[in-house]
Amino acid sequence: MLFDDKTFFQYKFPEPQYLGAKFIWLSWINKFIPKDIEVALDAFSGSQSVAYLFKQLGFTTLTNDFLNFNHQIGLSLIENSNTLLSNEDYNFLISNNQYELEKYKLIKQNFSNVFFNEEQADFLDKLRANIELLDNNYKKAIAITLVNRSLTRKVTMGHFAHTQAINYANDPERVKRNPNLARHLKDIIKDILPLYNQSIFDNGKDNKSYNENILDLLPKLNRLDLVYFDPPYCDSHADYQSFYHLLETYTEYWKEKKFINSIKRYEPKKYSGFDKKQEVIESLNQLFSSATEIPNWIISWNDRSYPNVKELETILKQYKDVQIESQAYLNGRGGKGSVAGSKEILFICKNHLSINLGSK
Ligand SMILES: C[S@@+](CC[C@H](N)C(=O)[O-])C[C@H]1O[C@@H](n2cnc3c(N)ncnc32)[C@H](O)[C@@H]1O
Repeated sequence: MLFDDKTFFQYKFPEPQYLGAKFIWLSWINKFIPKDIEVALDAFSGSQSVAYLFKQLGFTTLTNDFLNFNHQIGLSLIENSNTLLSNEDYNFLISNNQYELEKYKLIKQNFSNVFFNEEQADFLDKLRANIELLDNNYKKAIAITLVNRSLTRKVTMGHFAHTQAINYANDPERVKRNPNLARHLKDIIKDILPLYNQSIFDNGKDNKSYNENILDLLPKLNRLDLVYFDPPYCDSHADYQSFYHLLETYTEYWKEKKFINSIKRYEPKKYSGFDKKQEVIESLNQLFSSATEIPNWIISWNDRSYPNVKELETILKQYKDVQIESQAYLNGRGGKGSVAGSKEILFICKNHLSINLGSK
């Protein structure tokens, strides 16, 4: 079969807004992906943009992120092959269902007037109650994904590490530039629903989304041909749980956490191993040691991350042959987590060439 016969590029990944998302680099990354792959893993999948590329390439795609809101995108777009969220489902989700509503007060109690007004906070709780009543887990995942994506559209910079959202929603100049700041969440959800439905497809493979710390998951997986590692850029913008805490809180609907600081981040955080300088070298070594059987590794990095490119190359050379590629960020925006002026790096790693000189 010709390579082109089994690709799925007629489907479009809904544009993400996620720190470190590789959406803009996909065609560059694609150049370095070997095409004779059966099974590929996106180990730190975030918005799922690279996992989606693997699925489009026709690979059996495994995808993983330790944050549940990212796993919900993985369930919706990678694992799911044909379940859609209908207009009827949407109408049910935004309806004023009264069932067990007393259990759904988390957002109103903790987030009224933090990022949105009380009415929107209450709407989010009611919607969350209705999501639980959907009769299909992929529909639930799509619904959570749509709400989370709409939440990121309603705040400037698309993250929750600042508390300017309410002020900005009342600032006509800002609203002129980004009308979503002042729109009702239910309208944003309605707008993006068709984009997500249209992106769902069946590549004929048994794809799977995981929600584990990769250090626990990787030793349990076998028969992988390719793994893509895109860990947080340590020392640059690694703290995903501060930037996106509200999405994780809405997805997990935490009851047992504390909500701290002005942004009401949940505490305690989940353990990563890749977001603190003092842990990252040990975690990388643990990660690479459990991946030795996988013949192809591709690793995304940034020239401002810790360890630096030379140091990471030295670590990687203990395991594989290494080729390094790079691209400059030209138009990155400023602000927290900005990559403006830095370089995006790709390590392409293959098994050491071993020449067998043994006698016949
Ligand atoms: C640079 S982002 C990945 C971006 C992704 N490639 C994309 O295109 O959107 C790093 C991701 O690693 C996840 N992460 C951090 N520590 C992890 C761990 N120990 N196991 C699994 N995922 C982890 C974060 O939640 C974050 O989504």
